[in-house]
Amino acid sequence: PVIVVDFGAQYAQLIARRVREAKVYSEIVPHTFTVEQMLAKDPAAIILSGGPSSVYAAGAPFVDPKLFEAGVPVMGICYGFQAMAQALGGDVAQTGLSEYGGTEVEVCASGVLLAGTPEHQTAWMSHGDAVHKAPVGFEVLATSSGSPVAAFEDTRRRLYGVQWHPEVKHSAHGQTVLEHFLYEGAGLKPDWTPGNVIADQVAAIKAQIGTSRVICALSGGVDSAVAAALVQRAVGDQLTCVHVDHGLMRAGEVEQIENDFVASTGVRLIVRDEKERFLTALAGVSDPETKRKIIGREFIRVFEDAQRDIVAEAGEHGEDVKFLVQGTLYPDVVESGGGEGAANIKSHHNVGGLPDDLDFDLVEPLRTLFKDEVRAVGRELGVPEEIVSRQPFPGPGLGIRIVGEITAERLEILRRADAIAREELTKAGLDNEIWQCPVVLLADVRSVGVQGDGRTYGHPIVLRPVSSEDAMTADWTRLPYDVLSTISTRITNEVREVNRVVLDVTSKPPGTIEWE
Ligand code: XMP
Repeated sequence: PVIVVDFGAQYAQLIARRVREAKVYSEIVPHTFTVEQMLAKDPAAIILSGGPSSVYAAGAPFVDPKLFEAGVPVMGICYGFQAMAQALGGDVAQTGLSEYGGTEVEVCASGVLLAGTPEHQTAWMSHGDAVHKAPVGFEVLATSSGSPVAAFEDTRRRLYGVQWHPEVKHSAHGQTVLEHFLYEGAGLKPDWTPGNVIADQVAAIKAQIGTSRVICALSGGVDSAVAAALVQRAVGDQLTCVHVDHGLMRAGEVEQIENDFVASTGVRLIVRDEKERFLTALAGVSDPETKRKIIGREFIRVFEDAQRDIVAEAGEHGEDVKFLVQGTLYPDVVESGGGEGAANIKSHHNVGGLPDDLDFDLVEPLRTLFKDEVRAVGRELGVPEEIVSRQPFPGPGLGIRIVGEITAERLEILRRADAIAREELTKAGLDNEIWQCPVVLLADVRSVGVQGDGRTYGHPIVLRPVSSEDAMTADWTRLPYDVLSTISTRITNEVREVNRVVLDVTSKPPGTIEWE
């Protein structure tokens, strides 16, 4: 792999993603890894990421010069660039001057790294110190007003570096610079494709599972669907999928799993219709956390029942059920390795995610993938586009999009309004611009309206379209007025109980994406 050394800023994941966009496999390791640990991964190249502002700061991570003697191509970015310069005897000065944001860079020699890019280009900077003198053997490729040395390379030792952040889209030629390092600098080939990922994973899953049987909880989301499709490709009918229909799904979703997903993948699927059970358990409850806990608890109980049935059935055939498929993604793996417990803002018990104490070994075929890669793999496996391109949807479903008590009638109102909003957003071609658009029913609020000749006293529907990279932060999406207008007109015309549609214009923070 290409190893991205994480110096603690938020850029390492982005770099890893960009490397993969260049069709080269990458992995993130913490900067606390020793050179020996890094080399043990047999890296094809190493990228040192951005990090703290100054190599002189107390406790600033340091780069062992041995790293540059191993014969592995290395690229330093921002802090990694400065750390590299310092380790190899260059001159990093605490100038007190800093550059932040889009910065004009002047190319003085294009070399390998900047070949074919313009003489003047905008690059995204975020640094205090600057490299004043490149180490011996390096050629200076670019300068900027705050960075006498803004890029350098030593092609003989295959060492490269840039002061700016090529992984950030605001750097005009960032991806080109990264690709020059990977292809020309490190001699790598763009061969990490969905097809190869599938071949590798299928082989790994076969080796792990053998002849045993395996269970997967299908939530209807992208991750569990693609994980199941991969495992199915590997072991066929040894896999049984269970979908717990809790009655909190959106219009058409259960049918999509029941019909389209099964038809396109051949997965063996058991759907448990548990709508009544969830409604009963949720009766009279309007507190959001209590709702989440009830939904999570009931989900686990139902899944355990299903699992018991499957184990019993397998036992009759003298088979064992040892494995459980989980759609864990690479960001979860990286983040849980970070060790810092994020504040529990909401209990993301992740329906579809199961408790740790289940007596199974986990099969996690998406552990190395980012979300967009999961989608690409899903498409290649023939998972229906409606599922693959689905926006994130919370495990507790519409249950946390009804502010107030959940009833069958209220679910139906919300399902109809949500279907209209989704249909119009898709029709307007906005699905890719929006991260997700929760549609929320304020079930305990009523307002006066007028329709035809009559007074109405109905409920408001909230539209919550957000743009985001990772759901940690988000901004409200500036949807075109005519699209908003169509959605509003259609919902108030077609859903009798709703007489008002409002738009949520709050970013996250302070608002979360979901209302509960
Ligand atoms: P918030 O509301 O916390 O949501 O800004 C961030 C992202 O997480 C999704 N979400 C959930 N996903 N189980 C899930 O699987 C949950 O309990 C859950 N709650 C929120 C939400 O849709 C958004 O994408």
